[in-house]
Amino acid sequence: MSASLLPVAVKIVEVGPRDGLQNEKQTISADVKIDLVNRLSDAGIPNVEAVSFVSPKWVPQMATSSEVMQGIQRRPGTIYSALVPNMKGFDAALAAKMDEVVIFGAASEAFSQKNINCSIAESIERFRDVAQAAKQHGMRLRGSVSCALGCPYQGEVTPEAAADVVRRMRDLGCDEIDIADTIGVGTAGQVKRVFERAAKEFPLERLAGHFHDTYGQALANIYAALEVGVVIYHSSVAGLGGCPYARGATGNVATEDVLYLMHGLGISTGISLDAVVDAGQFISEQLGRKSSSRAGSAIAAKRAA
Ligand code: HMG
Ligand code: MG
Repeated sequence: MSASLLPVAVKIVEVGPRDGLQNEKQTISADVKIDLVNRLSDAGIPNVEAVSFVSPKWVPQMATSSEVMQGIQRRPGTIYSALVPNMKGFDAALAAKMDEVVIFGAASEAFSQKNINCSIAESIERFRDVAQAAKQHGMRLRGSVSCALGCPYQGEVTPEAAADVVRRMRDLGCDEIDIADTIGVGTAGQVKRVFERAAKEFPLERLAGHFHDTYGQALANIYAALEVGVVIYHSSVAGLGGCPYARGATGNVATEDVLYLMHGLGISTGISLDAVVDAGQFISEQLGRKSSSRAGSAIAAKRAA
């Protein structure tokens, strides 16, 4: 911790190629995804959630995941992660030589029931075989706790409910656990309470903040998490993403915006903001729309002036 009591360095996990692109309706070619992942790892991002190995009937955009992983230039030291829902997904992740697999569960009972038709406890139990296989093969295992700060169906989600899922994921052997504000409704005081409570179940230095900017609170929430001592943050280049199950939910907080905040605070990330701005401009052009990153757009406009 520095004199200001903020961390001196943080790890940024880029989730745009998976969490972001999975929500795009238009088909994005494997070549574009490969180019994007390469640009992000070349920018110095230490962990890229590149793909998911899920049912193509549920998420057609991720059907090219094996091809993407075969096509990228692996940067030594970069952790490439894949979200997997079951053993079929795990086997594909193993074949693709992923460094990390990501399992997921909701902190909201209503969300779990509506979306996957089972309780939170049952849903986490279903990942036991994936967790064991990951350990067996020496892969990193990450758990994602979605709807940890609010739910589109039940509304409030308590820190206790989020901590309960964190505990279950810890017991499965997760190396890192994300607290995700899937619909972007959380506010700074709530963020502090959730992380302080979760840290009683799992080491704070391995808890990650995954914020969406739906209500414009993401950077404030990140600052609140920094004050608690959280050192891992998820973000998405150009703010790609959304939530298919929550109408109106915007993307993940933009990587460019998070880097601008961190570097302004003197917090080291090891990442080139300029190179991420380029990646953001690249993918926005491919998608035929403006970047959702405020810092990315401002820096690009300044360059063009
Ligand atoms: P299902 O239809 O109930 O399962 O889906 P099924 O076992 O009947 O399988 C249906 C078909 O999918 C079968 O093919 C399977 O072989 C195939 P068919 O015989 O009909 O030709 N299949 C698969 N194919 C490829 N890879 C697989 C796989 N599994 C089955 N792994 C299932 C159940 C869980 C598979 C499905 O619901 C699924 O894939 N869900 C994943 C959806 C997803 O990716 N959601 C987003 C993740 S969570 C998130 O984004 C939030 C987070 O980012 C945090 C935040 O943003 O806040 C983490
Ligand atoms: Mg997300």
